[in-house]
Parts: sequence; C-alpha cells; structure tokens
Amino acid sequence: MTAHAIIGSGSFTPTRVVTNEDMSRIVDTSDEWIVTRTGIRERRLASETESTSYMAAAAASAALIDAGVKAEQIDLLIIATFTPDLPMPATACLVQTMIGIPSKAACFDINAACTGFVYALDTAWAMLASGRYQHAVVIGAEKISSLINWNDRTTCVLFGDGAGAVVIGPAPSGSTGRFIGSKLGAIPGTSAVLMVPGGGSSPVQTDAARFITMKGKEVFKLAVRAMDDVARDILAAHGIAADDVACIIPHQANRRIIDAIAQYLEVPIERFFINVDRYGNTSAASIPIALDEARRAGRIKSGDLVLLVAFGAGLTYGATLVRF
Ligand code: ACO
Repeated sequence: MTAHAIIGSGSFTPTRVVTNEDMSRIVDTSDEWIVTRTGIRERRLASETESTSYMAAAAASAALIDAGVKAEQIDLLIIATFTPDLPMPATACLVQTMIGIPSKAACFDINAACTGFVYALDTAWAMLASGRYQHAVVIGAEKISSLINWNDRTTCVLFGDGAGAVVIGPAPSGSTGRFIGSKLGAIPGTSAVLMVPGGGSSPVQTDAARFITMKGKEVFKLAVRAMDDVARDILAAHGIAADDVACIIPHQANRRIIDAIAQYLEVPIERFFINVDRYGNTSAASIPIALDEARRAGRIKSGDLVLLVAFGAGLTYGATLVRF
C-alpha cells in the first residue's frame, strides 16, 4: 500500500488586523481582560470580498505551489468549515472552479466546527488509503466574523477569520513522512454549550439566532479534558511517549487551554506551536494555519513526529499523529 504524507501547506489570513484596543472601541472590554483570559492580542477580519471560498482558494493555491503539485493532479478536495459561503453547493465545489481542480475530483465540505480540519484529514487519509485517490487538498477555512454578534463581548473578542490548507500525496521515496494514526470522537449531550441556533432548517429563526452562543466556562472544562484524553489515547495506541513528539499543534482557541494541556501532558510549552495571540480562534482554519506557519518557521523538520489535537462545537474532538 502506498504511504501518504503531507507534502505541502499554505495559508491565507485577511490583511485587516483588529487589535484588542480596537475591540475596546466596539464593546466594553480591555486589552488586559482579553490577554489575561485568552492570550489573544489581535485577530484578522475578512472584508466583504474575502469570502470563505476566497480564503480557502488562496490557502490551497499556496499549498499546491509548496507541494509542487498541479491542480489537475488533485482527485479529492475537502473543506472543513462551519461558515460556508452558501448552504449549497458545498464551498469545496466553489473552490474547485476557482483553482482549476478537474471534474474527476470528489469535492465536499465537512462540519465538525473547530475539530473540522482533523476530521477532514482523517477522512482524506482513509480515502487515499483505499487506493482510489492519489492526491488530496484538505482545507480549513472560516469567515467566523459573519456569525458574530458584535454587541456580545463574551464571544466577539475570541474569534478571527482565515484559511489553511495541506496537500496530501504519495510520500516521496526515501522520506519518512507518513500518517501514523488518528482518533476522532464527539461527546453526546453537549451541543447546547456552543452553537449557532438559527440559520439551518430548525424553526429557530430569529435575528439573534444567527450568531454564535457559548457557555464559556463549560466549553473550557470540556475542551481541556477532551484534548488531554484524546492526546493520551492516540500516543498510547501507537506506543509513543509524549516526549518523542517534536511539535504539538493544538486548536488555537485560548492560551489558557493550551497551557493546561501542556501541564497535564507534562510536555514543555515550548514544544507547542502557538499563534492564538495573532489570529484568535479561527475554528477549522486554526490548525492548518498554525501547521503552515510552523513548517515555514522551521519548527517542523523532516522526520519529526507532530501531534495535531483539537476540540470544537458538537462537542467534537480529535487528534492526528503525522511523521514529516
Ligand atoms: N471583556 C470584559 N469582561 C468580560 C468579557 C470581555 N470581553 N467577556 C466577559 N466578561 C466578563 C463577564 O461578564 C463576567 O463579568 P461578571 O463577573 O461581572 O459577570 C467576567 O468577565 C467573567 O466572565 P467569565 O465568563 O467567568 O470569564 P472566564 O474566566 O470563564 O473567561 C472565556 C471567559 C475566555 C470565554 C473562557 O471561559 C474560555 O475561554 N472558554 C472557552 C471558550 C472557547 O474555547 N470557545 C471556542 C470553542 S471552539 C469552537 O468550536 C468554535
């Protein structure tokens, strides 16, 4: 069986930087409150023309160049998002046209909120492993600003927009790069702690229901437990010690959540790649943006073992182990 590996990555973030100081002019908040509780210093917010598909296409194009793979070679395109341009068709179909992916490619979206990219990666990996697909583009892309209540200080300071992408293909001969394993899950009965109550086919369709609602403290506790458990599970399943992981890329929701995971796993915080201070929580885009930045910054070298770990609305959770 052909071993598959991540052979390229790319990302796109809007140019508009919104600092905590800027946020304090919109709602009753302060840089001090936001930094202390979340570690976020600024976020990027998309313009009207920077749609989820636009950002996804930009990230995917950068990943294809990085991989040295042509769009015509792609036969699988998956986008993780909970902020698609439209209810239908899938944003993946819009991006397919934008970047020239051929009609032989399967194109679809996945929604597992902030865990979406890890879910999409596992799906792509399983499809590639079937032998029926050769090259995949997997994207996490979000325009969360479109679902934010800008009068609600408990949520509006937390999120940002952006996209990240990887190209997965046959591992280059002689390289160690390959997928090691993946573990996904969801906690029953926890949907109410983090949701967008309207906008779907449910009868709840007030104006307010279009926005993200969150029980922050409950999300925090569930997130720490779920990420710690799934990270331990996947390491144990593959007989790998946390110490052997060169770089951990967690979902970038809150610096305090990341610090807690580092403490529970007994891994030095320096081993974690963290950029939540610059982008806030970009949901499904957060791990691929961080992965791309980590690769380009030289934080991930050939042969390194990398752990991706996430949680999100659902509540969903997941972890993936990749050898580069
Ligand atoms: N600025 C100033 N004060 C604020 C703000 C703000 N932006 N937001 C809330 N406060 C106030 C509250 O009103 C409250 O005031 P009160 O005591 O007078 O009632 C006080 O600050 C404390 O609020 P808490 O909610 O108790 O603050 P907490 O320490 O729990 O921090 C936070 C809140 C940052 C949201 C935290 O709970 C958290 O990070 N939770 C996890 C959230 C998360 O990760 N969400 C992403 C999920 S991933 C996905 O799938 C989208």
